[in-house]
Amino acid sequence: MADAAAGVVALAAPVRTSKLDLLFPVTYRVNAAGHMEVGGCDLIELARRHGTPLYLYDEATVRQRASEYIAAMDGAGQVLYSAKAFASPQFLRVIADEGLGLDVVSAGELHLALKSGFPRDRVHFLGNNKSVEDLEAAYRAGATIVIDGDQEFELLRNVVPHGSRAQVMLRISPGVKPDTHDHISTGQLDSKFGFSIESGAARKAVETALQHPSLELVGLHSHIGSQIFALGAYEQAMEIMLGLLVELRDGLGYEPRRLGAGGGLGIAYTQNDDPPTPRHFVETVRHALVTGCARRDLKVPELVVEPGRSIAGPAGIALYTVGSIKDIPGVRRYVAVDGGMGDNIRPKLYGARYEAFLASDPDQATDGKVTIAGKYCESTDILITDIAMPPLEPGDVIAVPAAGAYCLAMASNYNGMPRPEVLMLRDGEARVMRRRETLDDLLITEVF
Ligand SMILES: Cc1ncc(COP(=O)(O)O)c(C=O)c1O
Repeated sequence: MADAAAGVVALAAPVRTSKLDLLFPVTYRVNAAGHMEVGGCDLIELARRHGTPLYLYDEATVRQRASEYIAAMDGAGQVLYSAKAFASPQFLRVIADEGLGLDVVSAGELHLALKSGFPRDRVHFLGNNKSVEDLEAAYRAGATIVIDGDQEFELLRNVVPHGSRAQVMLRISPGVKPDTHDHISTGQLDSKFGFSIESGAARKAVETALQHPSLELVGLHSHIGSQIFALGAYEQAMEIMLGLLVELRDGLGYEPRRLGAGGGLGIAYTQNDDPPTPRHFVETVRHALVTGCARRDLKVPELVVEPGRSIAGPAGIALYTVGSIKDIPGVRRYVAVDGGMGDNIRPKLYGARYEAFLASDPDQATDGKVTIAGKYCESTDILITDIAMPPLEPGDVIAVPAAGAYCLAMASNYNGMPRPEVLMLRDGEARVMRRRETLDDLLITEVF
């Protein structure tokens, strides 16, 4: 135990240069033309060539965030990318190339992963209401199945062939409420996810899994929420999980090989946000795990973390073109853009706050506040309320940073709007990762 504890590096203080560094991809700069540039590509040029709304991912940022997680883990466990934040074949290949595994929550996400050539032995399948089809697909793929409720024990009896065993973990609800929006908080007692420790369901589920003829229980999993800045909640959750491990060791003689601490590290959406780095997150969780195990004389399980937002989010930028501008003197100036709630529902779903910049001249002085509205037929379709911007005119391109996670992933065709094109940028080259939907794409499932 002592050796393992000594193996944990001292907690490093996060290094910051400018507040804007946190908002923009690592390759961001203002180029000689005065335009925003990412991945060596001029954003005004991209908007002109590809149209807007347009989503851009900076490959260097995806790799930097992913590799920071791997380096901080230092061989002590696995880093899974949470596909729900954003997934496409080219994006997942970068993730796999950096050595990460994958967390999927449906047969659909798994299908995309397999079609993208993602290594199947690195896939974990989660979800609170898995269907028989989900479980069959997960088992066939050889994924680790993270059981979330009692019903899955029954379903798996039929899914796993007689004489075989599926590798499973159990999702445990540690009863911790992190400091984040209620809608993205998952680890508290009153949650649809996981087996609660407090109610005794967790221990019972472990007993059931250990006696189950078709299951090999490889570990326990937890995930307390998303967009979390205060890492103390992870330390608290770890303490509670280790308390359960003691109970399981002493009561059942069971010690898990793997322990999942989930994802949820927050990112900067505005210049006021100052989240911990991936390194700081992993080192905090590892420290809590290793020192907590040492105190309890527990074997240190392999740690599993599953970040989504903190890898995809800072790598992504959304570009929109300004259309109509409406002044209500003394009340508000509405600047409407060609996207909105169909490509980014987060402001409406969670009250999420973004910033925006004039892509042709991001350093231009602001001349008052505007409200950036979308083009969907809902008065609630507002991307950013009251943001200071330079003078804007129809045709101007505005860039919204930190748009890489849970924007396109939740995109819809509401109002018959095609979903945007998505590019991956690297070394001055822009590769289309997903083409813009056409009007005919909107009809593809219709039966005439
Ligand atoms: C179980 C689980 N793991 C990981 C994640 C990823 O969280 P984040 O994108 O905040 O890192 C989520 C997000 O909801 C989740 O539900």
